[in-house]
Amino acid sequence: MALTEEDLKNVPETGIDPENPGKYQGLLEDLQGNILKGHGRDYSVHLFLEWKSEKVAEAKEWIQTFAKCYVTSAKRQADEALRYRQEGIYGKVFANFLLSRRGYEALGFKPFQVPKDQPFTMGMKNEQIRQDFLKDPEVKHWEAGFQKDIHGLLLIADDNLINLLQTVNKICQSLRQVAVIIHREDGFILRNKAGQIIEHFGFVDGVSQPLFIKRDIVRAQTNDCNFSQWDSRAALDIILVKDYNGKTEDSYGSYLVYRKLEQDVKAFHEDQQKLAETLNINNDLAGALVMGRFADGTPVTKSDIPTYAVTPTNNFNYDEDTAATKCPFHAHIRKTNPRGDTGRVESAPEFDEALRIERDHRIVRRGVSYGEHDPTAKPREGSGLLFLCFQADIENQFNFIQSRWANPDRFVDVGVGLDPIIGQPGRPKCDPKNVDPKNVISKWPTKWGESETKEYHFELWVKMKGGEYFFAPSISFLTSL
Ligand code: HEM
Repeated sequence: MALTEEDLKNVPETGIDPENPGKYQGLLEDLQGNILKGHGRDYSVHLFLEWKSEKVAEAKEWIQTFAKCYVTSAKRQADEALRYRQEGIYGKVFANFLLSRRGYEALGFKPFQVPKDQPFTMGMKNEQIRQDFLKDPEVKHWEAGFQKDIHGLLLIADDNLINLLQTVNKICQSLRQVAVIIHREDGFILRNKAGQIIEHFGFVDGVSQPLFIKRDIVRAQTNDCNFSQWDSRAALDIILVKDYNGKTEDSYGSYLVYRKLEQDVKAFHEDQQKLAETLNINNDLAGALVMGRFADGTPVTKSDIPTYAVTPTNNFNYDEDTAATKCPFHAHIRKTNPRGDTGRVESAPEFDEALRIERDHRIVRRGVSYGEHDPTAKPREGSGLLFLCFQADIENQFNFIQSRWANPDRFVDVGVGLDPIIGQPGRPKCDPKNVDPKNVISKWPTKWGESETKEYHFELWVKMKGGEYFFAPSISFLTSL
């Protein structure tokens, strides 16, 4: 039985249960893992490929074999997780296989056979996307590998680093016949002393995610008061699109946005300290005003001190902070998920409708850290986030968040300022319409919950080093190339 669009919208309230998949069986078997739920492995290697033009037939054969041997389906990912929980047996090496638009073309696919998403078709280096929307640095300033034409991406991951590196070596050797590895990234999960996943600035990460899987939903409902203030569930149509090249009735794929984001950790912490001094508040609270959560994950709209919860809550909205006296509008998590704020501005549709539209912009983040492994070292260069996110519609999801919420000075209100983590103002010299970053001064509350504010210019300490848009095709497409 084929799934309909209605089915994707109306996943059961409790989400899909891969242990008892019912009508979703076919979908889970043909869909790559890491999309509906993160693969959770500690180490990963990302290989960026260019197919050799004279070896197209061999490349297709190579992909078929790779898909059969390594690519992990959503069903296998879930089965392995269950086996680990029940018997303590680790899963096999995890792998995803992704193609860019140029990758499809290089393999001989005609434009009508290539997934249709517009930014995916244009590519991340496209001047309109880069300059007008994302405000990314010029391509000549990206890392050398990302400047090249990327055709494919292999994501290979495991908890055992030695095993992973051995597997990657083997894969690299066999790849040489059919592709050039034009770039490689080695990622890992960074953890704080409490064992929680963090990013390089030291904040707990990966807390707020759209949830699709029954087990995740039930756990979150228990932790988050039955979603009384924020419902983390999402329908499958925000993440999956039909893969028309797939060979089953329920062949689906998802678009991946990949961005290498370098973090200047030392400078970030110095700026955080200066912000604290300017506002005459403590350093922890200053960090929380920047991120929207304390380093331990406590949302600053709920509390002016960290609560050190083992699992930080995601059950909150900004209904009791509509003047942004607790969490500034420009804080990273408020700009990237306004939780109803856009329904409060004049000319907005009715609140519920605005919230529904907002929720359709959600992305599924699957990023990992790179560079320095010691979370207390404060690297200025060479460390950061390999930002990966899946979605069904790049323009309406990642590109929308970056270009319409994070980058602009105006958001919900005038003069709010850029997202201090990922906002990119563009280059003022070339385009007079662009905002000079030096003029973007945000207002910050000096007393939590009170209206008094001070102005401060928080510099941008995250630098985009390159990236691309990809599609994660169905497994039946890959095995039948
Ligand atoms: C949440 C850090 C890049 C979108 C968060 C959180 C942290 C964080 C600490 C809070 C924990 C959580 O809810 O998971 C960073 C850092 C980045 C980065 C250090 C760059 C180096 C991005 C990018 C985007 C993004 C490029 C997309 C355009 C989001 C979203 C949330 C989030 C949607 C969840 C907000 C919510 O639902 O409350 N990020 N992030 N982040 N980030 Fe980022």
